[in-house]
Amino acid sequence: MKTTKAGKALANEMKIKFLGVSENERLARICVAGFIMDLRVSAQELADVKTSVSEAVTNSIVHGYKNRRGYVTLCAKLFGTDELYISVSDDGCGIEDVEKARQPLFTTDPGSERCGMGFPIMESFMDKVKIYSRPGKGTKVIMIKKLGCDLAVKDGSAAVKRGKK
Ligand SMILES: Nc1ncnc2c1ncn2[C@@H]1O[C@H](COP(=O)(O)OP(=O)(O)O)[C@@H](O)[C@H]1O
Ligand SMILES: [Mg+2]
Repeated sequence: MKTTKAGKALANEMKIKFLGVSENERLARICVAGFIMDLRVSAQELADVKTSVSEAVTNSIVHGYKNRRGYVTLCAKLFGTDELYISVSDDGCGIEDVEKARQPLFTTDPGSERCGMGFPIMESFMDKVKIYSRPGKGTKVIMIKKLGCDLAVKDGSAAVKRGKK
């Protein structure tokens, strides 16, 4: 059975493969939102996950495939009740220098509306971001996030307030 290092068991899993066209950025956001919607997750966390997926999928479409067609695979897994694992992969052009690509404001597409903040956004919204890429072969971005942390903080403060009464 699949488990995390901490021993949390795989509770749910989904995988979708879609053509890398911009219409499907919305599809990816909706699918991932549907996957986590009924979990204990704050509106902010839901928005953060959707934005991160959107950034990774957009990258596959605009940078990975540029002007050619190819497929993007979005995979989501839930371990236990709160450990979300997401991967976004493509068979596009790949990234020459991953460390450089992660830097804020780094972009290979300066003429467009892109501003080199896709990876920094993913890194700030998710707990962990791993990038695996081989030039000419493709890219896989893995993002991990513990859900329900915002709510735990809220519950905690409520408990403190109640305790003070
Ligand atoms: N899936 C991908 N395939 C190829 N190159 C990518 C991919 N994702 C990111 N990159 C490279 O990493 C750079 C930084 O990405 P990002 O931080 O999202 O900024 P931006 O998309 O605004 O350029 C991109 O400009 C591109 O060169
Ligand atoms: Mg980007």
